[in-house]
Amino acid sequence: MRGALVTSRRRHADVGILSESMMTETFSNELTTIHYADVMDGLEKVRDESVDLIFADPPYNIGKKFGDFKDVWPSDAAYVDWCYGWLEASLRKLKKTGSLYVMTSTQAMPYLDLWLREKVTILSRIMWHYDSSGVQAKKFYGSMYEPILFGVKDSRAYTFNAADIEVEAKTGSVRKLMDYRKEIPTPYKSTKVPGNAWYIPRVRYRMPEYEEHPSQKPETLLERVIKASSNPGDVILDPFAGSFTTCAVAQRLGRSSIGIEMNPEYIKIGLRRTGIAQTWNGETLNAIQKSTVRKNANGIRGGAVKAI
Ligand SMILES: C[S@@+](CC[C@H](N)C(=O)[O-])C[C@H]1O[C@@H](n2cnc3c(N)ncnc32)[C@H](O)[C@@H]1O
Repeated sequence: MRGALVTSRRRHADVGILSESMMTETFSNELTTIHYADVMDGLEKVRDESVDLIFADPPYNIGKKFGDFKDVWPSDAAYVDWCYGWLEASLRKLKKTGSLYVMTSTQAMPYLDLWLREKVTILSRIMWHYDSSGVQAKKFYGSMYEPILFGVKDSRAYTFNAADIEVEAKTGSVRKLMDYRKEIPTPYKSTKVPGNAWYIPRVRYRMPEYEEHPSQKPETLLERVIKASSNPGDVILDPFAGSFTTCAVAQRLGRSSIGIEMNPEYIKIGLRRTGIAQTWNGETLNAIQKSTVRKNANGIRGGAVKAI
């Protein structure tokens, strides 16, 4: 494990967040590099035009708590200004043939979409759809999706491995229909490239991939993004690594990756999940010990929790 200590000061007084003095520390193995840093400091460590794929999943300005950091900006304008800053810096890191995936809330995405379409070619507006068994909206339509924008720097030269992400085609082929639009009528293909509505369940406590992070993205989602928009050996950048899903999946698929994260609790997850370290600052980095007993909201013990 390589660890380099650099001290930096970054003030977010304009958006009400103040990080007095943030230590910047770097860890790596052969494929993965982790920067424990504020996003802007971490990005400074990445060479310009050296990255093939960016997956950016920032805080959404919706009041979620990431440890001590509360995801609230004083206004939509302040939030999107902050986003424009790290987006601009991230785009500098992307190769001319590179691709970018950006997530944010449904409310903020229109701002980022308008801004980004001046900088990159937007190829898809993806809807990551999931079901929710939690509290249901009664007076409006509950939020069951998160938007993902997919853009490329050069629409004539970018990676898209369509054959690697095909899914089952549930229409013509299942009904054993023939495609008469072809010169020689042929049965419908049984697989297809997924459209822009992705149904992928959220990460749940009982799933083996679960980590203690309030906004962990599913490995299946990252697998699709990484397989489609990068090749083995390519470099992937995640400026808001969180539980390090991007880096863990990239490593498993033989890609290099760089993850930036400012919360030390999540750095510990990243170090363990990527196998970079088993200890940090004398602490053993153990996976979460899941309770085998289910409790309801009042703390009443119920049935045993089964792994799914
Ligand atoms: C939506 S989560 C990312 C989740 C991640 N995609 C995953 O699968 O676990 C956003 C992350 O950004 C981190 N973060 C927020 N502000 C940051 C900043 N200024 N610099 C670096 N990381 C930041 C938070 O600690 C949080 O873990």
